[in-house]
Amino acid sequence: MISLSINGHQHSIDVDPDTPLLFVLRDTIGLTGTKYGCGIGQCGACTVLIDGQAIRSCQMPVESVGAQPVTTIEAIEADPVGARVVAAWVGIEVPQCGYCQSGQVMAASGLLKETPNPTEDEIAAAMTNLCRCGTYNAIAAAVRQAAA
Ligand code: FES
Ligand code: FES
Repeated sequence: MISLSINGHQHSIDVDPDTPLLFVLRDTIGLTGTKYGCGIGQCGACTVLIDGQAIRSCQMPVESVGAQPVTTIEAIEADPVGARVVAAWVGIEVPQCGYCQSGQVMAASGLLKETPNPTEDEIAAAMTNLCRCGTYNAIAAAVRQAAA
């Protein structure tokens, strides 16, 4: 059995230890806000926070999470920084199809928790998640608004 702390709740799950955290979140626990995109660490659709840091959950074996708290899109508004990010996303109407956006919000939340006032270069370096709808300008504007 593997113990996980997800969105403030403890879970005890019986899965193969090298199962990616993404599959545990979606298929075992039923938190489907975190998306599967590429499965190879490239797109960022699967981004969650582990101990406040943005990581790509398709590349994280569940056994490596240990006691570190996991935050997913379902609980990001309980975090003051995450709540600001979501408010900016809504205010600027960033999403188009929306598929990539939970990962984008988590990446932005991770950035602003670590760097509250990022430079343009820091935003560009942190926001590497892909968006097939091309919402990159709106994403950058929302990150700037959330930082302000
Ligand atoms: S699904 Fe994890 S980076 Fe694409
Ligand atoms: S909003 Fe459609 S992929 Fe990003």
